[in-house]
Amino acid sequence: MTMATAKTFVRDSWEAFTRSRVFRSVVRRGLADTNRNRSLAVFGNFFLHIHPVKVSLRSIAFTRTYYLGGLAAAAYLILVVTGVFLMFYYHPSVPRAYEDMKDLQFVVYMGSFLRNLHRWAAHIMVALVLLHMIRVFFAGAYRPPREFNWVIGVMLLLMTILLSYTGYLLPWDQLAYWGVTVGTNMADAVPVLGKHIKFLLLGGRGVNENALLRFYVLHCVVLPLFLVVALSVHIWRVRKDGGIYLPPLKQGEEQPNTRAQEEKE
Ligand code: HEM
Repeated sequence: MTMATAKTFVRDSWEAFTRSRVFRSVVRRGLADTNRNRSLAVFGNFFLHIHPVKVSLRSIAFTRTYYLGGLAAAAYLILVVTGVFLMFYYHPSVPRAYEDMKDLQFVVYMGSFLRNLHRWAAHIMVALVLLHMIRVFFAGAYRPPREFNWVIGVMLLLMTILLSYTGYLLPWDQLAYWGVTVGTNMADAVPVLGKHIKFLLLGGRGVNENALLRFYVLHCVVLPLFLVVALSVHIWRVRKDGGIYLPPLKQGEEQPNTRAQEEKE
């Protein structure tokens, strides 16, 4: 077979494949050659439909958002993946928890790396979420029509902090034990409801195996699920509220329409 016939064979096979019923059942549209086809390709693709069909160049400029929301979401993704791996080695029980952490550090292959990745991503996520909130505040993006998304954001911040707090107890070392003792005693100081909140958090009166199990379930199942739902609504709302908030153009300033025009500025 010569080179030319090999190329024709590959091209014809590819064309036959893209025309096949199997391929067409997955990818409905052909090449996105016109604006209309590009829009249809975005609407019809699960992953692409997260993005609007058209975005302003001003809204994707780095200095508009510093990508802080996206980076916080990326940190969360790292936490989910590393967290699932950690679950393979960790038992939420008083005799095993601390031993498992030591095994992760000294026995499990790359266990220390895994644990540190999870820990650092958690610290970084808290910092990113706070910075993202500050960015949104100074952009004035909490004003109508984005007030509801601000409220969802506050819930996300709360869940991020609760995830960090519930994860704190899991190593079952001195730091964890006394950290959670102090935290739950602070909850105890809340007028009227304090005692009930403490009891609900610990599943009893002291920091013991019930508390460990409760924190484990909250940390690995309940809070991550709530966070994913709230995050989906949050990102969907960014689109529904008209995309990233853009301040009005200054007098005489022109809307950049092309990348070339923006690069010139
Ligand atoms: C888990 C935490 C969070 C994640 C992953 C997240 C993610 C995002 C993303 C990806 C965007 C669009 C891009 C951007 O503005 O950077 C966004 C926008 C927004 N976020 Fe968050 N966010 C979180 C927490 C918060 C918090 C704590 C607040 C405020 C209390 C907040 C309020 C907003 C608002 C109002 C917008 C729209 C901003 C605009 O139109 O300019 N978010 N968020």
